[in-house]
Amino acid sequence: MPILPIIKYPNPILRKKAEKVNDPLDPEIQKLIPRMIETLRKSNGLGLAAPQVKKTIRLCVIEEGGVLYTLINPKIKSQSKNKIIMDEGCLSFPGKFFLIARPEKVKIRYTDGKGENRKLKAEGLLARTIQHEIDHLDGILLTDRSKIKKTKKL
Ligand code: CO
Repeated sequence: MPILPIIKYPNPILRKKAEKVNDPLDPEIQKLIPRMIETLRKSNGLGLAAPQVKKTIRLCVIEEGGVLYTLINPKIKSQSKNKIIMDEGCLSFPGKFFLIARPEKVKIRYTDGKGENRKLKAEGLLARTIQHEIDHLDGILLTDRSKIKKTKKL
């Protein structure tokens, strides 16, 4: 399966607000999900949002701690007051890292790749990745979140 090209900042597609997925079982969506997973794995990322592969729909894939999550129409229902500041990267900003403050824990609702509605409580790196990917669905990028000067690694 060929991997999908990942668009990079400042491509304007990354700024669009993605549209709700009406039918998660639509064959186009079902075909896209495994391709996004393959692309995520080959890119050694933690998460990939559909707009990064030029599909402006509310779909993202995350793999963290050996667990794969397909999030369709994800919504943050609540978040902790406590925030953590961490260095964060993005496949659309290759080689760059930004210090970003984000809530430590989130509760979300989403639809999975089989069309089932689910709830998830997340903390740590998973919570961070979920928030990062949902930001992509709203056209929000690391450069918007970062209040601290950009750092370069490697
Ligand atoms: Co990203």
